[in-house]
Amino acid sequence: MGDMTSMVKKAEAYLESAGKLTEEYLRGYMPNENEVPGTLHSAMRYALLIGGKRLRPALARAAYEFFGGKPSESICLAMCALEMLHTFSLIHDDLPCMDDDDFRRGKPSTHKVYGEATAVLAGDALCIFAFELIARAGNVAVIEELAHSLGTKGMIGGQIIDIESEGKSVDSATVDYIHYHKTAALIEASLVVGALLAGAEKEDLEHIREFGKGIGLVFQIVDDILDIESSTEKLGKDVGSDVKNGKATYPAVLGLEASKQKATELYSKSLTHLEKLQGKNTETLRNVAALIIERKH
Ligand code: IPE
Ligand code: IPE
Ligand code: MG
Ligand code: MG
Ligand code: MG
Repeated sequence: MGDMTSMVKKAEAYLESAGKLTEEYLRGYMPNENEVPGTLHSAMRYALLIGGKRLRPALARAAYEFFGGKPSESICLAMCALEMLHTFSLIHDDLPCMDDDDFRRGKPSTHKVYGEATAVLAGDALCIFAFELIARAGNVAVIEELAHSLGTKGMIGGQIIDIESEGKSVDSATVDYIHYHKTAALIEASLVVGALLAGAEKEDLEHIREFGKGIGLVFQIVDDILDIESSTEKLGKDVGSDVKNGKATYPAVLGLEASKQKATELYSKSLTHLEKLQGKNTETLRNVAALIIERKH
């Protein structure tokens, strides 16, 4: 097992190396600002390259390696596509018509720098470019998985209920729905895509999917807690955004202490799904799960 601190340290090193690789490839794949339409390319590169933990590419890579995948172009394409899709969701999430937040990844949000119209289009273009890239990996199941995780049964489905629930008192089933869809779905898909590209067996795909669902929810509960307990400097994005918008969050519905409890329970439950993946070394996946619950930004 190993203690949490050393697990988190190892996970941070893993994210750092997956992040470097992702950025290297992103710089190569992304059109340049001197190619027409330059402003749009510039906004896309800005949103993508100013920072971010690169958690989703790291999860995809960890699952890929776990199931025996060897270094390949297809996993690099998937890592880049995942980061583009996630960044698309962030650009739109910060817009004045959504959460109206001015900071992201330690810098002014994309719409603060480029204006709203360009930010909307940069988000759209990142989403579409991600599918162009992942298509090159030539795996239809991967494309379907990603599309599903982002659509009405995934991220966008969660975002609409998140918006519609603002200022309302909602029950815990609603906040579960919101958090699972807006955040956990793409985290789950990151792991599943890595597993699919490595050729994992059907039964193993289900275990990794359940693990992803669990830690994905933990990730968003921790995000809610950090929005209250952390600082804008540490997070690189505006704290207090949820209270400002009257968001349906775990702390709003259950209170802070019960939210922490819930995160701990879900974390332990997620690990039981990893244990079902017998005969392989789950260390990296367990380390990343530890980072997800222990993270401070
Ligand atoms: C922020 O995601 C949005 C949520 C789903 C909570 P991250 O915390 O992974 O953001 P970056 O990529 O590190 O900026
Ligand atoms: C966002 O949830 C989930 C997304 C799909 C981007 P939040 O609105 O809580 O994310 P942050 O706190 O702005 O990063
Ligand atoms: Mg939001
Ligand atoms: Mg937000
Ligand atoms: Mg948040």
